[in-house]
Formats: sequence, C-alpha cells, structure tokens
Amino acid sequence: MYQTLLFEIDGPAAIITINRPDKMNALNRQVLAEIDEAVKAALENTAVAGIILTGSGSKAFAAGADIAEFSGFSPEEGTNLAAVGHGIFNRIANAAKPVIAAVNGFSLGGGCELAMACHFRVASDNARFGQPEVNLGLVPGYGGTQRLVELVGKGRAIELLITADMVKADEAYRIGLVNHVVSQEDLLPKCKDIISKIAGKGPQAVGECIRLAQLATSLEDGYTEEIKTFGAIFQTPEFIEGTQAFLQKRNPQFER
Ligand code: COA
Repeated sequence: MYQTLLFEIDGPAAIITINRPDKMNALNRQVLAEIDEAVKAALENTAVAGIILTGSGSKAFAAGADIAEFSGFSPEEGTNLAAVGHGIFNRIANAAKPVIAAVNGFSLGGGCELAMACHFRVASDNARFGQPEVNLGLVPGYGGTQRLVELVGKGRAIELLITADMVKADEAYRIGLVNHVVSQEDLLPKCKDIISKIAGKGPQAVGECIRLAQLATSLEDGYTEEIKTFGAIFQTPEFIEGTQAFLQKRNPQFER
C-alpha cells in the first residue's frame, strides 16, 4: 500500500516507519505524502490510541529533505515544497491523538523538523539531532526555525541553526529536545509503553490537552516568513553551490 513506509498496528499503537534506509530515510515528496496519508489512516482508526513515527535501519530517523530531489528547484518550487511540508507537519502537530517520534539515529534537517512536529520525542542513545541547512546555503523549511526556538529557547536554537552543530542524545535530553533516552532495543518498547498508558485515559480529554498545549505558542508569522525565505533562497548562488557540493561529495566554497 505504501512505497516508502511501513505501517503496522500493534495493540493501541500505530507504528509508521520511514523506509528508505539506503538514503538515510531522506524525506522526498513521496515520503511526505505517504506520512500524511498514514497519519490520517491512524487517526481515523478507532483501535489506535497513539502513533509512533520512526525510521528503518539503525542509522537514521531521517537525514533531512531529499537534497537530490530539490537541488534544481526554482524559488516557486521551493516555496511550494515548504508550504506542502508545513501543511503536513502542522497536521501532525495538531493531531488529536499523540504522535511520538522514536528517534533511532540521525534526525537532521527535515528529519529533525519532523521529530519536532511530533508531540514529543524519545531517542535511542545513538540519535543525533541537527539543522544542517546552512551547510547547503539554505534555511530550514518545515517549521524548524520556529519549533526549535519553542523547544530549546532562542539562544540555543540560533546557535544550532547557524553552526549546523549536531547534538547527541544525552545533550538533546539536557536541553529539552527529547523526553527520554533509551538503548536502541528499548526504543520501540518504551514508546509502546507510553501509548499503552495513554490508551487508558479519556481519548477526548487527551485530544483536548494536545490542542490546548499547541495554543500556548502561536508563531504564525514566523512560520509564514520561513516558507517565503526558504523559497527565495533557491535562486541564490550559495544554495546552488551548497547543494552541488553535497551531491558531489565535496566541501562548499561560499563567497562572503
Ligand atoms: N538527501 C538525499 N540523500 C541523502 C540525504 C539527504 N538529506 N542524506 C543522506 N543521503 C544519501 C547520501 O547521498 C548517500 O547516497 P549514495 O549512497 O547514493 O551516495 C546515502 O544517503 C548515505 O549517506 P552518506 O552521506 O554516504 O552516509 P554517512 O554515514 O557518511 O553520513 C549523514 C550520514 C546523515 C551525516 C550525511 O548523509 C548527511 O550529512 N546528510 C545530509 C544531511 C542534511 O544536510 N540534511 C538537511 C537537508 S535540507
């Protein structure tokens, strides 16, 4: 049914696994569309109390948007890519059932943004988080500039955004990016335990708690501005140099 995902119902949990391990589970447009469909299916399934989103293999949750797919995009295509991504990630953030990111490896760029759109995150000890877009002469385009600030505060967020530094699981826990760090084999069991606990609570009240918590932060202008800026960057020489350098496996040469 899905080309790029595995979808499984396990007791009260729906488990959505991004399944492109040879490409570090990079998020191309098909993956994003299928995540949207799978989340919708899980929300409509009355047997499901909560959703776990994870990546296949032991290396990556998702290493970002698919650089090969978007490297030749025009500003209009870039804007559209960000707008579509924002729509999908907002539907996850506003889902009436809990969505937990089970982060099992690299969670970079769009992958980190996807994890941050989930209601909370559980990491395995090999998880790595980061927004490396500036390496490509780009900015995050799926809500990362806003959600990272919400989760870790402005000072830490700006440093992470402009250094492209990767954060290990224990540091991600320390700064509030993840709620729990467990071993790789305990990752899914831990997330399933949490969903089982939530499954015993009033489902309507659970949905309302999530909805109300989302209202606590309202950064609509920031999200809209991020879509515009992401798109505009697609015509800059540094974006072209940054993406070509990645695809050619060399260091970028940016001009000041
Ligand atoms: N988009 C497209 N392809 C990607 C990708 C992405 N975001 N991330 C990884 N891949 C691909 C690589 O091109 C490579 O493909 P190939 O085998 O056909 O050459 C494959 O996945 C394996 O990645 P590789 O870089 O060889 O693995 P690694 O272990 O040396 O490094 C990472 C892993 C995650 C550190 C590295 O892949 C990386 O930096 N990825 C890009 C992260 C990024 O910039 N994300 C933001 C995008 S906006």
